[in-house]
Amino acid sequence: MKKRQECIDVGSEYCPCYLAETNNCITCSQLQGKKFCDCNWRGVCVYQELLMNGNQIKQQRDYYNSTIEDIKEIGKDSYLLKLKVTRTLARQLKEPGAYVFLRDKRLPQYFDVPMSIMQSDVSNGEITIAFKSVGAKTNSLKKCDENVLVKGPYWNGIYGLRNLKSVKEKTCLVLARGISQAPALLTIEKLVKNKNKVILLLDKGSVGELFINDFIKDMNIDTYEEDLMSEKGKGLIMQLLLNEDISLIYSAGSDLLHMKVISIIDELGIDPYLAVTNNNEICCGEGICGGCTIRLKDGTRAKACKTQIDSRKIIERRVLLD
Ligand code: FES
Repeated sequence: MKKRQECIDVGSEYCPCYLAETNNCITCSQLQGKKFCDCNWRGVCVYQELLMNGNQIKQQRDYYNSTIEDIKEIGKDSYLLKLKVTRTLARQLKEPGAYVFLRDKRLPQYFDVPMSIMQSDVSNGEITIAFKSVGAKTNSLKKCDENVLVKGPYWNGIYGLRNLKSVKEKTCLVLARGISQAPALLTIEKLVKNKNKVILLLDKGSVGELFINDFIKDMNIDTYEEDLMSEKGKGLIMQLLLNEDISLIYSAGSDLLHMKVISIIDELGIDPYLAVTNNNEICCGEGICGGCTIRLKDGTRAKACKTQIDSRKIIERRVLLD
């Protein structure tokens, strides 16, 4: 039987969304116009949620005018941005894979740019984001003076979230390269909170700095620094996988880094849980525009912004296409 796809928003206050209203629900077959139910029951029936809500979708995410508390350079064309938000939003964003859309309020909506959350301070209502200035959208962020528009929360910034959130009292290997040191922090916090031993492999990448170090100095984790795309880096990853009983690997970096990790575990014949950063181009984040649609190995299509899919299926497919 073909497995139904898992939407990250099922069970959240934003489900049912416009996809349910337009018979394009990611999870519910009835809300895809079919006459039968074959969802993988995950504790919430989207169809019933819609009926109980008077056949109306729930209120969707809106823009929020946020004050910029601080912006500073942390490396080559790279910046750390601290924003004031509500405590509720900060709490919703304190999860691995969380991200928001940011935009200079003087610019049109197509300047919205998705940004991973690096740190969320719930008691002070603050979020921290690291970004690298690479194009029109990210360049415009640098020029924001006092305020920036924030839309969120979104959560599908990582594939393999279920395993990442459930692993407890195990040993986990975290690889963080370049600007992806940012999304690695919330993951490390979660793994440490769940009493896992964390081994962290850091690579400056194109940012040229290990800006995560200021945030992890009080954490009890083993840290190494290496060029993860080099032969030496490969050797270090292999050595750790052979000498430590690694239950989960989290790869925060490009698809090429993810692919390297997959090839190493295949070479070693081991099968730890795998979680990886979602590197797909995300445009609306709502499953509507179709800009993030990818075709999986089995031929099915998936909207990468909202769907949790097996990391391997996505990465292998994407690398083959590139
Ligand atoms: S980003 Fe628009 S559908 Fe995924």
